[in-house]
Amino acid sequence: MGKKLIEVLNGNRHDVPPVWMMRQAGRYLPEYREVRARAGGFLDLCFTPELAAEVTLQPIRRFGFDAAILFSDILVIPYALGRKVWFVGGEGPRLEPLSDAQALNGLAGEIEDNRLAPIYETVRRVKQDLPTDVTFIGFCGAPWTVATYMVAGRGTPDQAPAKDLAKREPQAFQGLIDKLVDASADYLAAQLKAGVEVVQIFDTWAGGLPPDDFERWSVQPTKAIVRKLREKVPSAKVIGFPRGAGQKIPHYVAETGVNAVSLETNIDRDFARREIQSKVPVQGNLDPETLRTGGDALDREVDAVCEAFGGAPFIFNLGHGILPDTPIENVERMLKRVRSA
Ligand code: CP3
Repeated sequence: MGKKLIEVLNGNRHDVPPVWMMRQAGRYLPEYREVRARAGGFLDLCFTPELAAEVTLQPIRRFGFDAAILFSDILVIPYALGRKVWFVGGEGPRLEPLSDAQALNGLAGEIEDNRLAPIYETVRRVKQDLPTDVTFIGFCGAPWTVATYMVAGRGTPDQAPAKDLAKREPQAFQGLIDKLVDASADYLAAQLKAGVEVVQIFDTWAGGLPPDDFERWSVQPTKAIVRKLREKVPSAKVIGFPRGAGQKIPHYVAETGVNAVSLETNIDRDFARREIQSKVPVQGNLDPETLRTGGDALDREVDAVCEAFGGAPFIFNLGHGILPDTPIENVERMLKRVRSA
């Protein structure tokens, strides 16, 4: 049997779409919490191949998703560039902030490859144990999104520190973005060589950028990653996720050359079908809140997503990551509904 998700990326529609969930390996699973507690810190989990492979496979075993996503984080790239990265329980990531041009210019330009070696080992381990009909997805953060964490030293609701620094020091900020482009292209190529089959670029904070800045800090860097990646791995398949980019997504797709695009929940589905899915396969976009709520409301929303996008190449997913307090039976209900189509 072929791999459904790859077939969709090649432009083939399936009556029952392939399905996976962003953040499918995570805290809503008791078996994840058990391994996480054993690992110590979150980054220790990311960098221990045996455990990272185990949590990558957990949602495949439990639910039979059509794709596994490598267990890691977008912030391993700043770590590989020599920055300090740590996670504060219940709060999220922390990094040493970058506050001026001098700090930006002083950043290492090359990834210390042995820092990422355990991740490639995780890929090889997962590959060995993955059922043959399941697609293996690798990923990185887009340069803009990773930069928002590197500059602020933490997650921010409005990305103000990065926006501010990009305005005050555009050249130095461009230098940071360029370093992230090179590191990300190398990192994705290495994931593909180790055994992932598709990669996704997460631009979680793309939607907060006004048009010119979106072009400069999201579209062009993503385009450069795709181009550099395909120089190393010509057949590389890429899913873009410019979250919140809405009406700018058709341009993002045409300009970057991604093979498919992941859609967030609040995009207009008619617009997306007409202006995006007519060009490339789409992935999405069930509301994670509705998945958490469950019941008939969940059934109706699953049907609405499938009805909107089921007529053309489509990967069923959420509009953003699954929420940690989502009941497992709701995930089972969602899968049953999608697969009974
Ligand atoms: O299952 C999967 O999707 C694979 C693994 C994965 C994680 N993070 C694991 C993780 C992926 C693809 C990511 C991507 C990621 N990480 C993004 C982009 C996608 C998105 O959701 O917007 C971002 C912005 C990050 C940075 C990050 N990592 C934040 C802001 C946080 C804290 C908030 C949170 O959700 O906990 C993390 C931690 C993190 N990354 C966890 C997991 C499973 C939870 C950590 C824990 O177990 O304590």
